[in-house]
Amino acid sequence: MDFKTQVAATAGLPGIAADALLVLVAGDVQPEGLEAPLAATLAAAIKAGDFACKPGQTLYAHQVPAVKAARVLFAAVGDASPKALRKALALSLAYLKTGGAKSLAVALAGGNWTAAQAEALVAAVTEGVYVYRETKPSAPAAAKLTSVALVCAKADAGILGAALKRAAAIAEGTALARECANRPGNHCTPTFLAEQAKKLGKEHGLKVEVLDRKACEKLGMGSFLAVAQGSDEPLKFIVARYEGGAKTAAPVVLVGKGITFDTGGISLKPAGEMDEMKFDMGGAASVLGTLKAVAAMKAKVNLIGIIPACENMPSGRAVKPGDVVKSMSGQTIEVLNTDAEGRLILCDALTYSERFKPAVVVDIATLTGACVIALGHHRSGLFSPDDALAAELLAAGEAAQDPAWRMPLDEEYDEGLKSNFADMGNIGSRAGGAITAAKFLQRFTAKLRWAHLDIAGTAWKSGAAKGATGRPVPLLTHFVLSRAS
Ligand code: BES
Ligand code: MN
Ligand code: ZN
Repeated sequence: MDFKTQVAATAGLPGIAADALLVLVAGDVQPEGLEAPLAATLAAAIKAGDFACKPGQTLYAHQVPAVKAARVLFAAVGDASPKALRKALALSLAYLKTGGAKSLAVALAGGNWTAAQAEALVAAVTEGVYVYRETKPSAPAAAKLTSVALVCAKADAGILGAALKRAAAIAEGTALARECANRPGNHCTPTFLAEQAKKLGKEHGLKVEVLDRKACEKLGMGSFLAVAQGSDEPLKFIVARYEGGAKTAAPVVLVGKGITFDTGGISLKPAGEMDEMKFDMGGAASVLGTLKAVAAMKAKVNLIGIIPACENMPSGRAVKPGDVVKSMSGQTIEVLNTDAEGRLILCDALTYSERFKPAVVVDIATLTGACVIALGHHRSGLFSPDDALAAELLAAGEAAQDPAWRMPLDEEYDEGLKSNFADMGNIGSRAGGAITAAKFLQRFTAKLRWAHLDIAGTAWKSGAAKGATGRPVPLLTHFVLSRAS
């Protein structure tokens, strides 16, 4: 999808050359300043009760006299907040993407575009036209729409053009994450993730290193190895480095949970909805997507993505409840529940990240069902003992329309991790499960400035709209860019 700005000539919106013109109507009454043919159409529709200036309302008109674009769509956007825009665009797109329009011009009647609104437009369009086809060739054909122009004043074109570019990079990163996560477990294996990282590396000049089982054994990653040992699918420990900043600048490290399928292992999950555990590499996908977005923008920052990738399977070789493993940090762990595997692979990756002397480390994981209970599907869970880092990540989430919510890490929550046979168990009580998981991870971050994002509720949708969201690529990209010089 091609995004650009378009300055309306003296003929105004009726003179815009595009297959379709989308007029976003801000406010709760018909905005002033709309050119006569468009204003007349809108006024007539309002009078006839076919349109109201209320969010959720749309009106389609074909071949409006004296309007160059053959298709005109009006959509009410209320206060025109990025959030409202996004909703209105999703509605409009549902209509436009099945039609014949290849080019779309979008105008904001009753206001001027801001950078945040431009970003919302790009996000909504790319999200709306995405179709998963990899294993479903019969899926509806991709939308004909290939170019979207944001109609703006000449004075704003520069700033908005830059905003569109940045937004398009974020959207492409999000789409990559979405595409990877949507692939079934027999396609998206640890090997596939490693290949994706290498491909990214070739496209964007990243340094990509993939460690195999032997290398992980040498490093003493007993915890990661224990999860991987039950599967015939070879594990991959992926390290991808983007070096856009000064040599001396400490990198931002992102660690993504890359369980390409989570059966639960010997602590087997129930059959219902187990298919959704193909999305258990959503954290890894978001790391790849963020690397792509940041590298595409050539941001002046050093960014390292670390992805421990493996399957969690039951087998004769699988780790068993009660087994004690030794993590790379030297701390021992009693595996009380093999389904709490995410933390077991992340802890070794966190320890590994120490070698990069990172400015900050953020891990991203579809870690707990408990986080879904706590926060639902709107906000990701954010955990960090570092107030400044937490504030940065929360702000990035708000700016990106990809929000998170801070959760506590009081030491009282650590209690449940006690074990009689190891330095810790890998589970606490069921109550506050997202927090005990984070407390477990925190035990491996003494030398780091660390935050953890539990994206179990936000990385994918269930039900009729089942599919990956690509979240939290927007949050992470905003966060990393805000740290670029
Ligand atoms: N990948 C799951 C978390 C998950 C479950 C995400 C359902 C989204 C929906 C994770 O590996 C897991 O199984 N966690 C367990 C932890 C428990 C055994 C302490 C869980 O949440 O039930
Ligand atoms: Mn699990
Ligand atoms: Zn899992």
